Amino acid sequence: MWYNAIRYNYKYMIDNPFSYGKTVDIPFFYGRGKELEEIKLSMRNATNLIMYSPRRFGKSSLVIKALKDLEAEGHPTVYLDFFKVSSREKLIELYARELMRPLSNWAKGLQWIQGLIRGIQPVMGLDRSGGPELRLSIDPMQAANAFEDVISIPEKSKSKKCWIIVFDEFQEIEKLNGESFEKELRASFQHHRNASYVFLGSQRHMLLNMFSRKDRAFYNFGKLFSLQKPSEEESRAFITNRFETGGYKIPGTLVCQIVEQTHNIPYYIQYLSAEIWESARLSAKKPEEIYPQALDRLLINQADYFQGIRSQLTAFQVRLLTSIAMQGCGSYESEFLQKFRLFPTSSVQKAYKRMIDLDILEKPDNRFFLSDPFFEFWMKRQA
Ligand SMILES: Nc1ncnc2c1ncn2[C@@H]1O[C@H](COP(=O)(O)OP(=O)(O)OP(=O)(O)O)[C@@H](O)[C@H]1O
Ligand SMILES: [Mg+2]
Repeated sequence: MWYNAIRYNYKYMIDNPFSYGKTVDIPFFYGRGKELEEIKLSMRNATNLIMYSPRRFGKSSLVIKALKDLEAEGHPTVYLDFFKVSSREKLIELYARELMRPLSNWAKGLQWIQGLIRGIQPVMGLDRSGGPELRLSIDPMQAANAFEDVISIPEKSKSKKCWIIVFDEFQEIEKLNGESFEKELRASFQHHRNASYVFLGSQRHMLLNMFSRKDRAFYNFGKLFSLQKPSEEESRAFITNRFETGGYKIPGTLVCQIVEQTHNIPYYIQYLSAEIWESARLSAKKPEEIYPQALDRLLINQADYFQGIRSQLTAFQVRLLTSIAMQGCGSYESEFLQKFRLFPTSSVQKAYKRMIDLDILEKPDNRFFLSDPFFEFWMKRQA
């Protein structure tokens, strides 16, 4: 009996085999073999890369994985998330922390970093739980020098292997701005022969605004890399295997339903699968039996968020969005516009633009899609 109790508890306590909401690595990471090799090759050759895709396709996870591999090969690496960069000082501090990350001796590392960056000093701060935490701060009088020092580190370094410096969510630089900051960075980076700069961001900002306009500082700065969805075959294999790890053998029909419902976007695959797994575990039913309830639960959890998005829109924009949801994609084709009585064209144009600006719509290849497949499903249900 005690054996059964342990077995029951073990089954009950098993962790969710899916992960979403943060960057992932094995065992939650699948596919991307070709992409990984291609970007590592560019990075090793000190080629600059601009990687873009619609949201949540897996850019950050892929690049962080490449960084781990290349760090193991001896390349110095720096990863900066521009969502966390609220000022130049913050950029310097985060950059310096990244430089110190691989070092085991903090005191020695600090001495080393102080030799590299003027005006950098340790200060005592508080971490998230209120405990003491050693941080770096910049003497305001030395901020300009410190900035210059930090961005020229790869150039001065004696490393035989090239540096790889990743700027994630780089479009956020526009908030710091402005463009003079971009110009300073570009002016410095273009002389760095021993570094690969990698910029990540969403399609619209990165391509249209920052790297493909002649009047912008980073025009033509690197190789453009458009990250596509993984193959459906890889997604199906991942879903099947992870459910199996989590204790369930699920039928192929459910696997296909998950891929279809999530438009084969990795984040949504993991989110929906995690919900199904959790619902099955809590109800002691099979995943295929619990699927409709799991999907409902997910939509109920998201309903406030979806309503919030919809409330930002005019009645016409909601009508256009609903039409796109019903049709699967939107366009300027007369068949689509007439079917849903969407006119005049100038209003349609304005509505598309606003919803792209709000990141509600994506526009790959001149067609408009809802970025979030669950929001699309919810809109269809509300229609
Ligand atoms: N290779 C992968 N294998 C499995 N799941 C993945 C993979 N890449 C991404 N995911 C899933 O997608 C989620 C988002 O991944 P990630 O943050 O890397 O995407 P992103 O494109 O950088 O997103 P954003 O546009 O929000 O910056 C992860 O939490 C994970 O659930
Ligand atoms: Mg990301």
